[in-house]
Amino acid sequence: MPIAYLPAERIFHLRSRDVSYVLKVLSSGLVAHLYFGPRLRSDSLTSLLSHFDKRHPADVNQADYAGELDILPQEYPSFGLSDFRSPAIEVRNSDGSSLVDLRYATHVITPGKPRLSGLPATYVEDTEEADTLELVLVDALTGLEVRLLYSAFRDHPAIARSVRIVNRSNAALRLERVLSSSLDFKLVGWDVVSLSGTWARERHYQRQNLASGSFSIESTRGASSHQQSPFLALLRPDTSEEHGPAYGFSLAYSGNFLAQATVDQFRTTRVLMGINPFDFSWLLEPGEQFQAPEVICVYSRDGLGALSRSFHDLYRSRLARGRYRDVERPILVNNWEATYFDFDADKIESIARAGAEAGIELFVLDDGWFGKRDRDNSSLGDWVVDSKKLPRGLRDLAERINRLGMKFGLWFEPEMVSPDSELYRAHPDWCLHVPNRHRTEMRNQLVLDVSRPEVRNHVVDAVCRVLESAPIAYVKWDMNRPLTEMGSAALPAERQREIAHRYVLGVYEMMERVTARFPEILFESCSGGGGRFDAGMIYYMPQAWTSDDMDPAERLKIQWGTSLVFPACSMGAHVCSSPNHTTARITPLETRAAVAMSGVFGYELDLTKLDVEERTTIKQQVARFKEIRRLVQFGDLYRLRSPFQTEEGAWSFVARDKSEAFVMYVSIRCEPNPPVTVLPLAGLDPAADYAIEGTDQRFGGDQLMYAGLAVPRLTGDLRSKTWRLRRVSPAR
Ligand code: DGJ
Repeated sequence: MPIAYLPAERIFHLRSRDVSYVLKVLSSGLVAHLYFGPRLRSDSLTSLLSHFDKRHPADVNQADYAGELDILPQEYPSFGLSDFRSPAIEVRNSDGSSLVDLRYATHVITPGKPRLSGLPATYVEDTEEADTLELVLVDALTGLEVRLLYSAFRDHPAIARSVRIVNRSNAALRLERVLSSSLDFKLVGWDVVSLSGTWARERHYQRQNLASGSFSIESTRGASSHQQSPFLALLRPDTSEEHGPAYGFSLAYSGNFLAQATVDQFRTTRVLMGINPFDFSWLLEPGEQFQAPEVICVYSRDGLGALSRSFHDLYRSRLARGRYRDVERPILVNNWEATYFDFDADKIESIARAGAEAGIELFVLDDGWFGKRDRDNSSLGDWVVDSKKLPRGLRDLAERINRLGMKFGLWFEPEMVSPDSELYRAHPDWCLHVPNRHRTEMRNQLVLDVSRPEVRNHVVDAVCRVLESAPIAYVKWDMNRPLTEMGSAALPAERQREIAHRYVLGVYEMMERVTARFPEILFESCSGGGGRFDAGMIYYMPQAWTSDDMDPAERLKIQWGTSLVFPACSMGAHVCSSPNHTTARITPLETRAAVAMSGVFGYELDLTKLDVEERTTIKQQVARFKEIRRLVQFGDLYRLRSPFQTEEGAWSFVARDKSEAFVMYVSIRCEPNPPVTVLPLAGLDPAADYAIEGTDQRFGGDQLMYAGLAVPRLTGDLRSKTWRLRRVSPAR
């Protein structure tokens, strides 16, 4: 059992692969957090309390901490007693007070891991894979029950945490804050890593030293956002890609979130994560429950690289679901940047034909196929094919594409409505709005109030009707604006601040229904590029569009940052045209492909406009990617040179059994008369020799890792080089 309970000391020792997580019920019933880090042998760990408490160790267990909760590392801190740090929970009680006093009531340890009702979460396929501790804390006066859930994984260095609140009283309570996890760390001096950016510049790596006070990131936009990602890592100042301790916290949630790291007066660092309390309030009637989303906490003793590989393994195999989870993803061509809204069936078929000739496997018809959508100012909500552009309908087009030997995919934006649409004219109250207030349009559209079951039913029916009407093998589920005027015509005044979370629950319910009904379809989520690229989405859709920016110089950074948490098989990565539509940068086709080959590879340009040489190159690229696809999408990623610290970017994918590797290097800016660039590789078998494809060179894995690989001179900006390595001698 990965979870041990020591009744004498009332200690719970959760053991995941290589990791221990320890908590203790004190004599007062308060629950202290004792440890999270490399695996410990002993269960008898009460002495760890003295790391926080100066009293004689013999007295520590008897202390009730009344008046001094500020020094106690707690599992689920509240406010109103003597812990003055940010709490995990805040409640308005029926008497108007906000005091919450949680004490241990009972616990249960069960094999396996329960699903979270209505929310995405990591899962197990066999009860042997994890144990779950459910720790029940109660506020005896108000009847508030807090159930802390912890799952320890046998095969992953991860602990999944979530919280369920139950109102056991006779009066309504108002939840003002229900964070999913709180963790207090003793060691002094942490760096915090976050992933920040904006549209076309998502998830840039950002690292800074934590000093006394708070560091926090959040979203208030209704989606997890382009601006901040629901992820934080804590590193020791000398932790690097390959060395040193690293903790990662990733929230499986796609809406407003808060992630915060606070260093207090005694230099304890508290990391909090969960639904953003800002503009959140939830009325909990007697007997009702509230389930908060899951935080996945991962520990690595071997740097940020190993932390990422652990997230990749877990998310690839026990967060993503469905038929495509373990399957190599089709190479696609998407018409968005090729045509925007200006296409007809013949144009689409011509692009698809060029794609088929290159060996591309899937054609994706993007925005503009429905209603009268010749611009972005109409028809969202009217999911009926545009008979001007596609007079013979979707089935005919899909079959034409199928006859070319390609599958057919389709774009939707199900959560939105255009004011100029039949749907809006029929149901003007179906969008998020506040009565008598202006409805803010962004990209000329409004957001459907999917907290309402009738709206969800309509959307699901409309999408399913289209999916049934033609042989559709792939869906891109887009979402192109943040939420404003967050109000619902269907909720009473006292529940209006529930809307942001109810919206997310509504999206999840729709995604569950549509994906369950069409298990053969590959789904990709999207939000104006990577505005909702989070662990919540990966549960429903195994891949996501990483960014609208396909310029390889930008993508190096975006994909590097995204790879901190998410595996290559989840990252949509396409070759664009040059000059790039976002940056106007001119880049070699070879480099665009080298970078895009580190994800779910595809093209997004008008293939019919390429010359013969370019078409031949694309054919070779497609063939090349088919050879390395399994390695990239299901191998181990090693980040080798950071585009955030150098004018270069490099990473590699290494097979699990170390039998092969694919290395990608880009020189972003050419330096005149430069020294020879040497790239130390990582993750190879030091005892084996590797042959470099296309050459007669062979090197020891040790040499390639410790001395490095010499990069040939590359002249010009944004030049790239890739290598394929094959093990030629067995490990000794
Ligand atoms: C935003 C997406 O990120 C793009 O790829 C494209 O699908 C457009 N929306 C279409 O409106």
